[in-house]
Amino acid sequence: MLAALQSAEMPSLDRSLAAEFDDDDVVAAYVHRPDYPEALIAHLLELMPVRGRVLDLGCGPGKLSRALAPHTDEVIGVDPSAAMLDLAGKLDAGKHQNVRWVHGRAEDLQLEAPIHLVVAGASIHWIDPAALFPKLARWLAPKASVAIVGGDEPASAPWIEPYRATIRGWVERMGGRWDDDGYRARISAHEPWLDIQGRDVLLHEVRQRIDDLIETEHSRATWARRRMGALAEPFDADLRAALAPWAEDGMVTYSVETRLMWGSPRAEVRAVA
Ligand SMILES: C[S@@+](CC[C@H](N)C(=O)[O-])C[C@H]1O[C@@H](n2cnc3c(N)ncnc32)[C@H](O)[C@@H]1O
Repeated sequence: MLAALQSAEMPSLDRSLAAEFDDDDVVAAYVHRPDYPEALIAHLLELMPVRGRVLDLGCGPGKLSRALAPHTDEVIGVDPSAAMLDLAGKLDAGKHQNVRWVHGRAEDLQLEAPIHLVVAGASIHWIDPAALFPKLARWLAPKASVAIVGGDEPASAPWIEPYRATIRGWVERMGGRWDDDGYRARISAHEPWLDIQGRDVLLHEVRQRIDDLIETEHSRATWARRRMGALAEPFDADLRAALAPWAEDGMVTYSVETRLMWGSPRAEVRAVA
């Protein structure tokens, strides 16, 4: 799990970086990220005791909200980025009248119970679990789950090692450290708040233009063009050089590994042994 997340959000996942998701360039680049596989949506629906209300935390452009909406009574997509919610509304184009887009942080959300499924796609690490999980424990219907989803980046491909080495080199060039303790702590901070009931890993193949794959990197807070400034251009050139030997007609193929972990939220944090 760690390896794939590393390419997504390194170097440090400082929560103040979440503001980057309000950047128009980050939001525009986001559409190039692959969708989650249908098998994930099917698995999420299986976790619902009743196809009632879904809460999508850090919904971004609504990849999960829009996919779950046709199968459920109501979806509440929450995100503090107005630009992301704007994109979500545009991509939905009024198709799903049962989706409510809520502007704000998950930590500040006030809702009426019951919720029949909580999903967090590539977002749980941006949210303070101590402010979130006690509320989820109150709102969740009996037997309902919190589902933590991650992984929409290349996980395996003939070029994955040179690609990752390039990203790793750039983490250092941007003043970060690959795989530091703070990073490890942040991506697993929610786990003591969840009684984990299961995990799944789903693989699917993506074929994409090199330029669009590079755009997906700029949809990550770490590689927001606004933060990188003039360095964005040589970053892109390095990634292009790493991918070029494997490209056919400017396209590359890769496998995406989508990870799912689900369980019951705890009102109090589990004591660390
Ligand atoms: C990597 S995107 C994931 C978007 C979408 N869930 C997906 O799976 O593609 C992370 C999202 O989390 C949102 N976010 C950041 N801090 C948050 C918070 N405190 N509460 C809720 N969402 C937050 C960001 O604005 C961003 O849209």
